[in-house]
Amino acid sequence: MRVVIASDHGGFQYKKILLAAIREKGYGLVDLGAFNEEASDYPDYAEAVANAIIKGDADRGILICGSGVGVAVAVNKFKSIRAGVCHDTYSAHQGVEHDDVNVLCLGQRVIGIELAKEIILAFLAASFSEEDRHKRRLAKIAAIEAKNMK
Ligand code: RB5
Repeated sequence: MRVVIASDHGGFQYKKILLAAIREKGYGLVDLGAFNEEASDYPDYAEAVANAIIKGDADRGILICGSGVGVAVAVNKFKSIRAGVCHDTYSAHQGVEHDDVNVLCLGQRVIGIELAKEIILAFLAASFSEEDRHKRRLAKIAAIEAKNMK
């Protein structure tokens, strides 16, 4: 699985630590910035992660900002991106199993780093269930997207 990760300044410290934890588990991971802690704009990093997935360069993305909310709002503006803020491990794996989430968003100012590591690993280890009821719901989301996103 190819994974991309990015953060603004509000998530920069966690990104550094999570990078190492994810690589230690053997996942291929590309860091799309920020590369320092200077104030930056989270939509730029959300766009970088979305484009990597849309172009087929990555299968999943991780975005970190102060709350996780800004990056989630921004990245969900891209077609075929299904992102959620997950601050617990249940949502992190169930989001993939039921909702085929492809971007996980975290808030550095909200949860501790050890929980953040467990959440990321739960997200990366999960796979979509392929069950009909979930496929049906995802098809409805795709239809909403097709109707409302140019
Ligand atoms: C930056 O201060 C902060 O607004 C940003 O990281 C994020 O939390 C937005 O949702």
